[in-house]
Amino acid sequence: MNDRTLVTAATLLRAKQRGEKTAWLTAYDAVSANIAEAAGIDVLLVGDSLGMAILGMDTTLPVTLDQMIHHTAAVVRGRQNAWVVCDLPFGSYQKSPEQAFETSVRVLQQTGCDAVKLEGGEPMAPTIRFLAERGIAVVAHIGLTPQSVKRFGSYRKRGKDEAERTGLIADARAVTDAGAVAVVLENIPADLAAGITRTVAIPTVGIGAGACDAQVLVWTDLLGISEANPPFAPAYAHVRQVMTDAIGRWAGDVRSGAFPK
Ligand code: KIV
Repeated sequence: MNDRTLVTAATLLRAKQRGEKTAWLTAYDAVSANIAEAAGIDVLLVGDSLGMAILGMDTTLPVTLDQMIHHTAAVVRGRQNAWVVCDLPFGSYQKSPEQAFETSVRVLQQTGCDAVKLEGGEPMAPTIRFLAERGIAVVAHIGLTPQSVKRFGSYRKRGKDEAERTGLIADARAVTDAGAVAVVLENIPADLAAGITRTVAIPTVGIGAGACDAQVLVWTDLLGISEANPPFAPAYAHVRQVMTDAIGRWAGDVRSGAFPK
């Protein structure tokens, strides 16, 4: 899908129903949003990957709500037609549906974004329902949920044994029934993601999960800015090298007196 009209939750649902794939990409500022728009990206996700991709953190856990709001507002300033989704950071929604509602209201009012994303399946379904019934577009995120890394101890693939597969199918159904408008499937086996994609009515968004209704990648991984990419996230360019070369040439010219001319 890339017809450059305003993307909404309804557009994404229609795309799934027509069998059209959509492209989601993380963005963290107005410049990246603007470039992604020019390239025809459908959805800009201000992920809490912000912490690791941009802010030099070891995990996503230290990312604050103020930081998410600051970066999401910048992305909204840089977008034209894309749907903008803001991740609710760790600790800002898990306590209760009411806490999630208050956080989401702040995010929507202070950034102008279109939807919020939260991690968790069946246990978060009552929260998703609470938000959806109050008019908030919620994207769910199941499978590998990075905010739970301290509980699971690693970023390993989820859904490898039968119990985990059954649990993930139940998670996908629960978030759909609760009113989520889309569900991110992160780092789960492709056949499981394909089964979930066939079963649920809402768009599935894969990252390390094989073919889904949509795909999402992290900005710095896609462009080859990250120092290392996860195995499921190929770099489509080597921008880190381009930047390093340009900065190095300029610094060399400054030192030699070739700049300014
Ligand atoms: O934080 C993030 O960027 C995400 C995507 C990887 C899905 O949640």
